Amino acid sequence: MDTTNRRDILRAAVATGGIALAAGAVSARAAARPVTQSPQAQPALPYAQDALAPAISARTVDFHYNKHHKGYFTNLAKLVAGTAWAQSPLEDIILATANKPESRAIFNNAAQAYNHNLYWQSLTPKGSAPSDALMAAITRDFGARAALEAELAKAATGQFGSGWAWLATDGTKLKVIATSNAGTPLTDGMTPLLVIDVWEHAYYLDEQNRRADYVSAIMPLLDWAGASQRFAA
Ligand SMILES: [Fe+2]
Repeated sequence: MDTTNRRDILRAAVATGGIALAAGAVSARAAARPVTQSPQAQPALPYAQDALAPAISARTVDFHYNKHHKGYFTNLAKLVAGTAWAQSPLEDIILATANKPESRAIFNNAAQAYNHNLYWQSLTPKGSAPSDALMAAITRDFGARAALEAELAKAATGQFGSGWAWLATDGTKLKVIATSNAGTPLTDGMTPLLVIDVWEHAYYLDEQNRRADYVSAIMPLLDWAGASQRFAA
């Protein structure tokens, strides 16, 4: 199946609400992508803007989603207009432009669009539990879910300056890593499962400079069920 067909199926599945069914029919890589109706269109928030309160206020979600996240898509569209990347999936743009100084602006905006897509999908209003398969991998690599969550929180609070804290898999092992600015585990060949945004815009309206408070507030909202789907793919 070529890329266009896979994308059409994914788009049709989203439109009909049948994304889980369609994911089984497309390649593992496509299924592992954050769900998006179009590779370069900002996906809808998967919940209401006030659904994450009080951990994250509606005001923060509004600014974060409608200003910051949207801005990366707007900037990216301008940067790739008329180029070979105009219709490319975000992942392809990210991998093609990583570590190339002449393409830094395109990389930064594509990666920030992608990272935020996954950030919104990494949270859910009431939290969720890992699948048996993901739980087995967590036990294998971290000993217990609490130990993994502690490591993730440590990576998020310890990241110097703007960046992201991730749970990712390299295909054989789960890893907790932090990246700076627009960095993403995709460029290291890993599949991201969960991500926490630690740019100040993610928490400053609610917590000012208290990043640790933001991190501890959102840990119960992590969507382990979504991570399990990405892990299975
Ligand atoms: Fe952000």
